[in-house]
Amino acid sequence: MKKILITGGAGFIGSHVVRRFVNNYPEYQIINLDKLTYAGNLLNLKDVEDRPNYKFIKGDIVDAPFIDKLFAEEQIDSVIHLAAESHVDRSISNPVEFVMTNVVGTVNLLNAARKQWSNNYAAHRFYHVSTDEVYGSLGEDGLFTETTSYDPHSPYSASKASSDHFVRSYHDTYGIDTVISNCSNNYGSHHFPEKLIPLSINNIKNNKSIPVYGKGENIRDWLWVEDHARAIDVIYHKAASGSTYNVGGHNEWKNIDLIRLLCKIMDEKLGREPGTSAKLITYVTDRAGHDLRYAIDSTKLQNDLGWKPSLQFEEGLEKTVEWYLHNDEWLQSVTSGSYQSYYEEQYGKR
Ligand code: NAD
Ligand code: TYD
Repeated sequence: MKKILITGGAGFIGSHVVRRFVNNYPEYQIINLDKLTYAGNLLNLKDVEDRPNYKFIKGDIVDAPFIDKLFAEEQIDSVIHLAAESHVDRSISNPVEFVMTNVVGTVNLLNAARKQWSNNYAAHRFYHVSTDEVYGSLGEDGLFTETTSYDPHSPYSASKASSDHFVRSYHDTYGIDTVISNCSNNYGSHHFPEKLIPLSINNIKNNKSIPVYGKGENIRDWLWVEDHARAIDVIYHKAASGSTYNVGGHNEWKNIDLIRLLCKIMDEKLGREPGTSAKLITYVTDRAGHDLRYAIDSTKLQNDLGWKPSLQFEEGLEKTVEWYLHNDEWLQSVTSGSYQSYYEEQYGKR
């Protein structure tokens, strides 16, 4: 049975990838390796935790001896690497943690793969899941393609850019079969409420102010998380060794327009007077080094591998809101404890 190690499988995107692989590929053994940081939550995988082709291992990718042992003992065949520190604001307060997990952790996995797979690199695959933020910021025009130069601005994007370079270097230097995908902003269920959409849903629900950085004019290209998981599936199975694919929604939204749409949906779902939630919008101090615009050209993925986004944003956002309103227990469990002190530190002093 082919063994695929999925790192960061208890996080937002990772849990959707694990669910998809466990459900669609009973012939694979899926091992989910996750440290269960504040962002990792085994509740995200309740529906698959008893499946015979699924196993969870708690561990830290920064711990190199542990990773080496895991590869040897489990005889890992392939890796889909999602574990990361993923929030830009946290990277501004604590950059070193991002270097450790995103850079050192990735290199530890590459080293373990190199040792374990050296007799036949072609029979194994190391898939690194990355972000469009490595390309930096666009002006009003243009799109990121796979050949856009790297130009990261935040400690988060700098750490992801560095990890991408290490993955490519292990392909070029040692011949490991690697693939990388760089995706735009995801949204959907199980998204930790430190990121714009789930944070705003949670605040609107609780009648708390919605913090909009700067003038709300920054633009992001939003993709439904299940479309990303499907892209990862296709790329894992079909991409050529050493290749890179951009993944995106062709779905650009100014933050303030997105929040206004979200407020309208929330008013409808909560039975509030139209315009009630929008009164919570509060402009706050801008994020340092805030990238203006991200937008992905995913033509290569569409032409080579036949992937395209399946869901219109309005429909996806409504589905997302419904998920949060029907999963109060989940929301309560992730917003108690350390979330409160994070929130105060991040927004209290603004
Ligand atoms: P997330 O923060 O929701 O989840 C990250 C997961 O990694 C958590 O389960 C956490 O416990 C685990 N983790 C963190 N440090 C670890 C360590 N040292 N060892 C083992 N596990 C550890 O992140 P996400 O939004 O699901 O993003 C997943 C990946 O996709 C990341 O690599 C991110 O850079 C990339 N990505 C995210 C987006 C997005 O919009 N969220 C877009 C493009 C790419
Ligand atoms: P975020 O969800 O943190 O993703 P990223 O920074 O990786 O794109 O932020 C999305 C956009 O929303 C970004 O332009 C920053 C902005 N933002 C706010 O205006 N207020 C907030 O409270 C947060 C978390 C983000």
